[in-house]
Amino acid sequence: MIAIGSDHAGYGLKKDIIAWLKEKNLPYEEYGCMDGESHDYPLVAKEVCEKIVGGSADCGILVCGTGIGISMAANKIKGIRAALCTDTYMAKYTRLHNNANVLCLGGRVIGSGAAEEIVDTFLNTDFEGGRHQRRVDQITDIENT
Ligand code: RB5
Repeated sequence: MIAIGSDHAGYGLKKDIIAWLKEKNLPYEEYGCMDGESHDYPLVAKEVCEKIVGGSADCGILVCGTGIGISMAANKIKGIRAALCTDTYMAKYTRLHNNANVLCLGGRVIGSGAAEEIVDTFLNTDFEGGRHQRRVDQITDIENT
């Protein structure tokens, strides 16, 4: 299950991504802004990330205007590795090397076509493990100290 949320600035792109998820028959749950009205991005990040750490979602997609604020907030939550991606290369390597569990996007930065390719890459790339596991564990150690 994919937990997807946005603030008002990411609302349009979130809706486009949801349409794409529906087309692909991918299960999702929607959070955050539901009508384009002002919605604070840290609260959306918290809502979505709690689903992931709680185990009811496998991964998350978060959208704000730039993707920056929502990724900052998400990365404050223990167990979350949120990656702001602006292209498929970043999406691929944040899964392969960082085992990212949240993809962040900027609704005012990229269009829906690029975003869909980024989401597709993120969802279909597995963590490589090996030496990267050691480094991800080092991130977790930082989080725990
Ligand atoms: C909202 O205006 C905007 O600040 C927010 O969507 C985001 O870009 C923050 O990083």
